[in-house]
Amino acid sequence: MAQPEIPSLIPVPGPILFDAEAIRNRVRELGAQITAGYSGRMPHLISVLKGASIFHADLVRAINLDVSLDFIAVGSYGSGIKTSGEVRILKDLDESVEGKDVLLVEDILDTGLTLHYLLENLHSRNPRSLRIVTLLNKPSRRKIDVRVDYVGFEAPDRFLIGYGLDFDQRYRNLPYICELVMPPGVTLDH
Ligand code: PRP
Repeated sequence: MAQPEIPSLIPVPGPILFDAEAIRNRVRELGAQITAGYSGRMPHLISVLKGASIFHADLVRAINLDVSLDFIAVGSYGSGIKTSGEVRILKDLDESVEGKDVLLVEDILDTGLTLHYLLENLHSRNPRSLRIVTLLNKPSRRKIDVRVDYVGFEAPDRFLIGYGLDFDQRYRNLPYICELVMPPGVTLDH
């Protein structure tokens, strides 16, 4: 006898906001801007794991300069960055940033708590310069002002997934950025 289909409780990819071609074009433009902005320098591009890893990998290949790379991972104390605002380093940089032209690479600037913390933390390590590039900027949920130097796209106040952005570690490998669609009856704070 056929079993009745059980509805999935897992949210799924929904409407696409930025397709692969739009992302590719914008990353190319950002690469050109950064190339011009760092003429004669060797920018040190730090990826904020894990979300920025995909963007970072594409962006560095769109920059026509010598670059160096590093990676940092941050997490939260207790109830989460989003609520506590307390950030901690889960994986620190491999190399010193002293005297380097640091460019922090983020996938999304949301409340601003992560980047605010990272800016203060990295500033104290005496880089030559410190700038931010974020693929997405979601100003609607900002809790703390953060000055960014390069922005890919303005993002609406929606839960977004793909191209590094996850839901519960899923969907980072989608080649586009889309909305997350919740199953009927399920709601989620983003
Ligand atoms: C996301 C994103 C940023 C941060 C932005 O990371 O990659 O690092 O949130 O949010 P904020 O501006 O509100 O601080 P997340 O903590 O989801 O980890 P992940 O990068 O591993 O997905």
